[in-house]
Amino acid sequence: SPARLTLDPAFRIAPVEPRLFGSFVEHMGRCVYTGVFEPGHPAADADGFRTDVLELTRELGVTLVRYPGGNFVSNYQWEDGVGPVEDRPPRLDLAWRSLESNRFGLGEFMAWAGKAGVEPMMALNLGTRGVADALRLVEYANYPGGTRMSELRRAHGADKPYDIRLWCLGNELDGPWQLGHKTAAEYGRLAAETARALKRFDPGLSLVACGSSNSGMPTFAGWEAEVLEAAYDMVDYVSLHAYYDPSDGDVDSFLASASDMDHMIRSIAATADHVGAKLRNPRRIDLSFDEWNVWYQSRFKGESSLEWAEAPRLIEDTYDVTDAVVVGSLLIALLRNADRVKIACQAQLANVIAPIRTEPGGPAWRQTIFHPFALTARHARGEVLRVEPEGPVISTARYGEAPAIWATATHDDATGEIALFVVNRDRHGPCRLDVELRAPVRPVEHLEITDDDLSAANTADSPDRVTPRPGSGLRMNGRRAELTLPPVSWTIVRFA
Ligand code: AHR
Repeated sequence: SPARLTLDPAFRIAPVEPRLFGSFVEHMGRCVYTGVFEPGHPAADADGFRTDVLELTRELGVTLVRYPGGNFVSNYQWEDGVGPVEDRPPRLDLAWRSLESNRFGLGEFMAWAGKAGVEPMMALNLGTRGVADALRLVEYANYPGGTRMSELRRAHGADKPYDIRLWCLGNELDGPWQLGHKTAAEYGRLAAETARALKRFDPGLSLVACGSSNSGMPTFAGWEAEVLEAAYDMVDYVSLHAYYDPSDGDVDSFLASASDMDHMIRSIAATADHVGAKLRNPRRIDLSFDEWNVWYQSRFKGESSLEWAEAPRLIEDTYDVTDAVVVGSLLIALLRNADRVKIACQAQLANVIAPIRTEPGGPAWRQTIFHPFALTARHARGEVLRVEPEGPVISTARYGEAPAIWATATHDDATGEIALFVVNRDRHGPCRLDVELRAPVRPVEHLEITDDDLSAANTADSPDRVTPRPGSGLRMNGRRAELTLPPVSWTIVRFA
């Protein structure tokens, strides 16, 4: 029997936050160097920014970019990356065993963010540094002038403050791989004291405490509880990170990865609410899913296997059709939880597990995963609707039975448009979906990402092998839309 769902503009979850369509630029591999920044490239502008990558970033619909790490930030000396370029010291980056020239730093990032039209989300080093350094950086970045650090910024050519509103209190400090790794008690105290000092500087700053590095961490949820007990009043968000791949060739579980993401979100929202209840504190801590993506971790041999090199090729995963469907389904999970997830960053933007790939001196192109992100960022507008598909299930080794049809929808009051985003995770056949529309709308666009060859990918030689294509088989029957969703497919239907 067909799957079915109802789209009713009265059943709302929360507004679509623009910050859900964030990305991440880390000093890792070729994300910065020969990714967004490549002086001398034929497409580079006067600042050395690749305009081809800038154009693709805008087309992707990225609203916010987290910077400069990632594991990199946990031993980063931000002062190395400001001031005259010829005076900047080359350093060893111990996170990725790479050579860091520091030719790109805070000022370059802020100039790039301005050109890309994205909001900056700045991460602080709370691995090997602490409160005093965080205060120096925020004074450098945000204080107008007349003090030591603000005058230093002005001497470096930035007369006006950068006014960065969103700050991450470190990165993945629960992970033993992290430089300056900490226990929850150690980190909770440091996060609370750093946050207290930053809010003394400016109570309007928004601060993100580190949550668990993934849902498989032995301290998952316990870490968040302990950290939030220490820092509840001082922080605004707690972070979540998750990467998925078909480990051991288990494609069905991979296709159902959004089940894990959904479970993580519910678990950490419940954990935060538990702490709030225990502390008798009416504040609500929201969630920042500030690293998520498909990452073939099995292909990565670990940090200690890396040779010292400048901008090495690190984790440059080439994505296929199945990966694009999974990325689309993760975006659906984020939207379905829009009442708690207020920030999200796909990791990363260029080359390093990224929707945008480049070659040094050569072209830039869209990976398969670019497309579901761009279409969702463009068309998810207004309010997220509560959508509850009913229908067949797929069996997975990791998550048991998961719904074959996974969907969300948005409704824009201003235009009346409803956008439906839906995946069919079933590998074995198409699925009929009946959509009951409780609004006077007709389909205006129907696009699919799918292929007879699910391993098809986009490459420098064949950059448009996989693109969204017009869907077929959509029929209207009064207020009912009948769709046929191909096996392993991501679909958007816009009704207006
Ligand atoms: O995005 C790649 C890495 O994954 C980041 O540096 C780290 O935070 C995470 O483990």
